[in-house]
Amino acid sequence: MSKKQDKNIDPLMMDHDYDGIQELDNNLPTWWIGLFIITIIYGAYFVTDHLILGNQVSAEVYREQEVLMAQKAKEESKAPSVKLTALTDAASLASGKAIYMKNCMACHGLEGQGVVGPNLTDPFWIHGGSVDKIVHTIKVGVPAKGMIAWKSQLKPQKILEVTSYILSLQGSNPAGAKAPEGAKE
Ligand code: HEC
Repeated sequence: MSKKQDKNIDPLMMDHDYDGIQELDNNLPTWWIGLFIITIIYGAYFVTDHLILGNQVSAEVYREQEVLMAQKAKEESKAPSVKLTALTDAASLASGKAIYMKNCMACHGLEGQGVVGPNLTDPFWIHGGSVDKIVHTIKVGVPAKGMIAWKSQLKPQKILEVTSYILSLQGSNPAGAKAPEGAKE
């Protein structure tokens, strides 16, 4: 009589018998299967989280930084509604000239005619020729082209003075002026 037909033997008993050790074909416990399914679901969630949500999180952080930087830039360049006007009084222009001779002349020329830096006496501007734009260019500089940001060395009032001085040179047409660069304004 085979073991399977023997009613006294557990029907779950498999036909394996090694040295008296027998194997049972029990169903897996429900809690174990539950855990197994949970790990699969969590695995799927984990992959999704890393490939999709993970990207979204860093994009969000990036966007936040952009917003902060934009706010900072806005503060630095002052609200667009506060339009700067060039100073015209002799004292401010004299102070602007002194600042120019000390800091800017080497690159822009004794008379603003341009050397390494562009000609500042013509109506052509690479970064814009309005008072606000010139002030902004001086503040942040053009580091890629060799002009440093001056905001740490010159106070806003000094930057406005040197800007006013530069604008007073418009149309002075100095000898040896550098060819126009940028757009006419
Ligand atoms: C080391 C050289 C150097 C010094 C010093 C320097 N600049 Fe410049 N500057 C440049 C260069 C180069 C550019 C052109 C940037 C470009 O091509 O985008 C420039 C551009 C400018 C512009 C923009 C011109 C335009 O066409 O839009 C202004 C305004 C200006 N400089 C003002 C100043 C003032 C004011 C100072 C002194 C406080 C100064 N620079 C000192 C090299 C210099």
